[in-house]
Amino acid sequence: EIGETAAVLGCNAYVAGGFVRDLLLHVRNTDIDIVIEGDGIRFAKTLAEQRHGVVHPHEKFGTATVIFPDQSRVDVATARLEYYEHPAALPTVEHSSIKLDLYRRDFTINAMAIHLNPERFGTLVDYFNCQNDLKERRIQVLHNLSFVEDPTRIFRAIRFEGRLDFTITRHAEKLIKNTVQMNLFEKVEEPRFFHELKLILSEDDPIPALRRMAQFKLFPFLWPDLRPNLKVDRRFLHTLTQANQAISWFKLLYLPDRVETWMVYLLAIMSRSRTKELISFCHRFDLPPKQRKKLIQQKTDAERIAQEMQKRPFLKPSETYWLLGELDIEGLLYLMTIARKRYIQQAVSLYVTTLRKVVPLVGGDELKTMGYIPGPQFRAIHNHLIEMQLDGEITSHDQALAFIR
Ligand code: CTP
Repeated sequence: EIGETAAVLGCNAYVAGGFVRDLLLHVRNTDIDIVIEGDGIRFAKTLAEQRHGVVHPHEKFGTATVIFPDQSRVDVATARLEYYEHPAALPTVEHSSIKLDLYRRDFTINAMAIHLNPERFGTLVDYFNCQNDLKERRIQVLHNLSFVEDPTRIFRAIRFEGRLDFTITRHAEKLIKNTVQMNLFEKVEEPRFFHELKLILSEDDPIPALRRMAQFKLFPFLWPDLRPNLKVDRRFLHTLTQANQAISWFKLLYLPDRVETWMVYLLAIMSRSRTKELISFCHRFDLPPKQRKKLIQQKTDAERIAQEMQKRPFLKPSETYWLLGELDIEGLLYLMTIARKRYIQQAVSLYVTTLRKVVPLVGGDELKTMGYIPGPQFRAIHNHLIEMQLDGEITSHDQALAFIR
């Protein structure tokens, strides 16, 4: 349909970038990036009209997002020559063709397109023998200034390498090292920088990418005051592995709770740093206040609780319940990460899978029908009931009622 719309408008439509890469790798990808040779915004508006979608145009960049009634979406771009005024500055845009558009991209594996117009539907557009790099599983740049033009691509190279189990070519490696030495990062706006880190930390297993970041000496840019400074030593890797295990464990429970895995990894990375350093990290990368607050709170609470649990190996379930009740999922997984004793991990596991979801044998509503008025006494009874239930001292509704009476 996209191709038909394009044909009617007299332009060429392609799907390009990550979608094509993943298609050739047989990996699922639902992010569809359309490139139009012609007027991308006009195309997006027509497509939205035909399919009852909503279009969000960005005139300045010649791009648009179309959202369809079923909430699926496509991003539309105008084939363009990105013209960089300064290294690391945001691009200003001129019109051009698909070949230049592809040439301007980060890596060969992301620089292929598939024609969508009916007469050439399905034809792979590969001007730079990108297929070969995909076959050889390597991350290669299209030209030597790729990282200078956009230093965030360094993080992308590392992320793809880790995710796809590809290898950054020697040539690209050299270019990365040069770019790092040139200190070009100082020209990247800090939130973009952070965005890339967040993407890395949201991968299923970010550890290979983090090792690589350390190898390329990227840590000092992100954490100038992280201790130990540059070293990704055994202890550091152990902490990251613990975080990875805690997250994998949690994902296997298939609970409905959403978890921001990047937060758990970030907390793990900064587990040996002081809260003050986390605050300055959040400040430097301009994290939204909600995320800042959450990170700082989870760090301080989980570390305090870890210490407390360290001293008290024999907590009753009710004690675990009250102690861990303050933590979000991210904080709980961080606590599992830093726990030095097996029993702490077991207690957290029990809390996550069972304790936190306990349904009181006598609920608040029932207490109200019994004549109790919400207030301190009401809460005390309610809490006491939950405690006895958690510790197995009462096991039935009747026992609970008998206790209240
Ligand atoms: N791109 C680029 N330089 C960047 C970011 C993106 O050249 N700094 C190009 C790449 O061709 C990429 C496409 O824009 O394929 C889309 O970018 P994005 O959606 O961020 O990445 P994907 O390749 O789709 O990767 P992911 O699977 O992580 O979404």
